Amino acid sequence: MLIRVKEMKINQKMVDALNGQINRELYSAYLYLGMSAYFESENLHGFAKWVRVQAGEERVHAMKFFDYIVERGGEVRLAPIDAPPTEWKSPLAAVENIYEHEQKVTAWIHELLELAMDEKDYATANMLQWFVSEQVEEEANAFDLVHKTKMLAGHGHALLCLDEELGKRE
Ligand code: FEO
Repeated sequence: MLIRVKEMKINQKMVDALNGQINRELYSAYLYLGMSAYFESENLHGFAKWVRVQAGEERVHAMKFFDYIVERGGEVRLAPIDAPPTEWKSPLAAVENIYEHEQKVTAWIHELLELAMDEKDYATANMLQWFVSEQVEEEANAFDLVHKTKMLAGHGHALLCLDEELGKRE
């Protein structure tokens, strides 16, 4: 039993939904970490680095939700994280998976925003705006990666140049 030191400024339905998003962001981190291991096994160290950096961003996203729940006096509840896939049929299939996954994340963020609006929780709706913008960037980056990988698939040397370029992501 938690002893509250802060007044709860957010309703439980919203807290539950935000806790669900912590889990999904941490799953995203896990998914990209699993993908990083896959790329390493394919000797694509630049792709591996790119998704590894992305995994770090997902943990930052999870912590934004974590900190927000705490700030509003809610209770953070962490649930088990599903295991991600360990293999993809090709590097292109893996990057297509990133794009599909980011589209799913966007849909989840929009659902949270709809809930916040239904609950007249304007503070949470405002916090979620950051994620709405972030998802525009995340989808654009993933789409760009799919496009480039598709163009270069089957062109070994060009793919290695892309790999080198991706490895510069910090
Ligand atoms: Fe946290 Fe890539 O969305």
